[in-house]
Amino acid sequence: MELDGIRESLKKLLKESRYLHCAGVEEVACDMALLHGCDMEKARIAGILHDCAKYLTGQQLLEECGKYRIPVTDIERKCPHLLHAKVGALYAQIKYGVKDEEIINAVTYHTTGRPAMGLLEKIIFTADYIEPCRKPLPRIWEIREMAYSDLDKAVEMVLENMLNYLQESGGDIDTLTLETYRYYRNKNMSR
Ligand SMILES: [Fe+2]
Ligand SMILES: [Fe+2]
Repeated sequence: MELDGIRESLKKLLKESRYLHCAGVEEVACDMALLHGCDMEKARIAGILHDCAKYLTGQQLLEECGKYRIPVTDIERKCPHLLHAKVGALYAQIKYGVKDEEIINAVTYHTTGRPAMGLLEKIIFTADYIEPCRKPLPRIWEIREMAYSDLDKAVEMVLENMLNYLQESGGDIDTLTLETYRYYRNKNMSR
């Protein structure tokens, strides 16, 4: 599906604030792609689609995973909203006709990240955190600046913020988020 068609579909499915967030991620991801030498069209598609399953309830997300045989981890069973990333990647394929593996991976890993992410994955992961509709977060301007100059460092900073927030709020930490943080911290330290 073309970008315009995707946008129209998402406008109907998502609540307005969520749609504006997706449009923000699309724009920021496109800018970052230009700067870091990534395909801008792919960045737009991954950006607008990354939360395309966010309108489903936790129960509905679990049902979709059952129906399409998507593996669910213990933490995802406990916090089913995390599954909007995996189900979003499924919908990108079956509803919007996305075949590109880089786009599919960028949607799949946009909440947790994963060690050794590809360029588009890192762009979507970071753009999701820094897009302009986000309410003020600690060090946000520092991270925004880093997103355009040193992407691996920006990824580490986003993960550090996420882990700090989860620790303070008593939220569950996905082991993949922790693994990803350790990977990028070590990678950035050893260069
Ligand atoms: Fe998301
Ligand atoms: Fe998002």
